[in-house]
This record gives sequence, C-alpha cells and structure tokens, in this order.
Amino acid sequence: MKLTNRLFLVLTLWLSATIFNTLSGQEAIFSITTSPSERTDSEMNFSWATDTTIKSATLEVAPLKDKRWKKAITRTFEGVLCTTYDSIYSKTKSGENFYEDVVINKFDANIDALKSDKDYKYRIIAGGDTTETYYFTTSGAKRWSACVISDFHAYSPLYHRTKAAMDMIGVVEDFEKGFDWILHLGDITAWGGSYSFWQNLYLEEPFINYMWAGVNGNHDNMTRQYGQSNKFFRDAAAYPRNGYEGEEGVCYHFKYGDVLFVMLNNESMRDSAGLAAAQSWVKDVVTNNPSPYVVVCEHYQWFFGANGKDSQYGRWSELFDELGVNLALAGNNHIYMSSYPLYGGKVVDSQSGTTYIQVTSSDNERGSACDLDAPLEYNSEKIKFRWTEGPKTVSALHLNVTPKKMTITLLDRNGSVLDQTEVLPRKR
Ligand SMILES: [Fe+2]
Repeated sequence: MKLTNRLFLVLTLWLSATIFNTLSGQEAIFSITTSPSERTDSEMNFSWATDTTIKSATLEVAPLKDKRWKKAITRTFEGVLCTTYDSIYSKTKSGENFYEDVVINKFDANIDALKSDKDYKYRIIAGGDTTETYYFTTSGAKRWSACVISDFHAYSPLYHRTKAAMDMIGVVEDFEKGFDWILHLGDITAWGGSYSFWQNLYLEEPFINYMWAGVNGNHDNMTRQYGQSNKFFRDAAAYPRNGYEGEEGVCYHFKYGDVLFVMLNNESMRDSAGLAAAQSWVKDVVTNNPSPYVVVCEHYQWFFGANGKDSQYGRWSELFDELGVNLALAGNNHIYMSSYPLYGGKVVDSQSGTTYIQVTSSDNERGSACDLDAPLEYNSEKIKFRWTEGPKTVSALHLNVTPKKMTITLLDRNGSVLDQTEVLPRKR
C-alpha cells in the first residue's frame, strides 16, 4: 500500500473511532482498574477495554513525582476479543430493560521492574485517546494499610448504592493515615454479567486512586436471568492467573508486604468435590509461600450473624488450624461479626489461632436486620462482636499491618470506631 493510502486509511480509522466514541458518549478506553500481581513489591497488573477497532494500547507507568513522565516505563499491549458479557439482559441507568451489546477488546497488562514501597501513576494511550491519570502504591513498607469493603451491589438504576460505598471509602481515607489499597469481599455488583455495571463503577474515584483486590461474590457471578459464570468476575479485572484449574484469574494469591492473601471463589465450592479442590490448592499455596501472616478471603460468611450458627467456619476451620491462617475474611451475610482467635474449636491466644471476621454490606439499602441484644443461640463463646444497622447498613474496615500485629478496625459511616481486633503473627 502506498504511504499516502496508508496514511489515509489510518486517518479514516482514527476519525471513525473518534466519531463512534463521541456519538456513543463512550471513552475509547474504559473499565480501567488496577489489580495486584502475585508480587506487588515489583509488579502490578492493569485491566482495561476498548472497542474492537483498537487492537493495541500503550501503558505508561511513572513514579508519582515524575512530573513530565520522563522516567515512565512504556509498554504496548495487544487486546483480546472478549464476548463474555455480550447480549446479556440488563438495565440501563434510567431503568429501561435492554440487552448489553458488549463485543470488546480486553487488555490484561503487567508491568514489572517497579520499585518497592513507591507511589506510581499511569495512563493508557490508544485510539487517539489518552486516559486520565491513575494511581497505585507498591508494597514494601513495613507499615501499610488497606480499606476493606463489601456487598454494595452496584446497580446502574440505583446510583445511591455505589455512592454510599464510595462515601464510606472516603471515611476510611480520613481514618489515621488512610490506606494504600482496597480489598473487597464480593457482591460489588448486583449482576456481574451486566458489563455496564462494572463500566460505570470503574469511573468512581477509588478505582482511579487505588489498586483493588477482591473475591467473586454470588451476585458478581450471575446475570439478571440467573445465568452463572466466573468469567464475569475474571474478565472485569486482571487478577493473577495462579489459581487452580478453571479458577485462573478468579481464585488467586498475592503478597502485599508480610501478608499472603489467598482469594477463594465460593461458587465453585458448593459441593464436596469443589471444596476439596479449593482446599488442596490453599494447602499448596500456603505451604509454598511462607509468610509472617496468612489471610484467606472468601465471600460467604463464617458464621450466621443473626444466631451465630456455623456457616463456612465448619468447612474450613480444620484446614486453617493446620496451616496457621491468621485471619479469615468474608462478607455476604451483611452482618458484621468478629471472632476470638480460634484453634480446634476453642478460644486461644492470637498467636495460636485464626481470627474470623465478616463485614457488613455498604450500600445503605440491602443490609440485614437482627436483634443484637438477644443472646446468641450458637457459638457465643467464639463470637466477640456483631453489628448491623438493619437494611440501611454502611460500614468498612481499616486494616493496618506492621511486623508486630495486624489491627482491624470497624468504622461506621461517621468514622466512629465500633470494634477493633488485633491479630499477631503465628508461632511457627
Ligand atoms: Fe451481598
């Protein structure tokens, strides 16, 4: 092709993409989110999407203080056609029924050679567009913090759900010295099969400012019509592909500082074969990645908050005892619960047991009521504290980690401290 023809073709493609984006009100690059890599002290993962006319995109990552992006690491990535969310029955922001038209190019990027304990910024360039600047912090600091939030069921027609959760994250930012990244425990969308829900959610400030890690919730795993797939969760981020067969990018593990995080998918552990596969993987991961602290995260609750009855605790406690898991985090029940450190079903000191905590919902709408003053029917000797505000519940945790201890603080929407739990490194 002649150079002039080639230039003309490039110009036409660029113009048509720009006109399409302008008409559709859509940015050329969308659904941008920062995910952990297996090693967050030197690498980070990035996820975004474009329409299918854009085949490749350039990622620039630079130290936060590098004003002119002179020290930027620049890499080009190829998109992969993604139809995971195409033609799924959904709702628009204004509540109209529609089928999502989502044939996109999905980008999973990794940048290594990063420096530990450093603030970074990045931007993506593709299709004649440059995104705004995004931010993250690599691990490596002796002391670091995370915001832990869950169950806000983002639903485009009801923006106030997302708003309540994002405001709560703002409250955690004002607590002590804020935090370095965000951990969610599932159900951050109402229907994970509805791509527009993820796309709208990722426009919120906390997705611009922080790395997010999370687990697949039952709502993230479903469509409006009760279709199920863990691809909805997988293709909405760029989690490490170090999970077991069929769970790559859904179940995963990563280290942030001294803490090994092991992320589970409850939807694949409903029967005993599924549970056995997950437990064998967890055993391998914890054994092969010795760490001062081990935190296991899943969506379904450890105990039922209303009466204290065993839920996932009964399925996992023996393995956690065996592996010396320090902290087990969950959501789903929408009632906060913190346990004493437990080993062999008995309360022990924190260096010898696992502490179980499940967080509330945070959307000010879908919380669960229970009589917190009534005595617990079950496990009252194991459960330290419970809390809910009923349907209109909002809260989050501030997780602070030092070599000496992890401190988990439950904050309400006003920033008041409701519960605090200290978790010490295990005696190994
Ligand atoms: Fe939920």
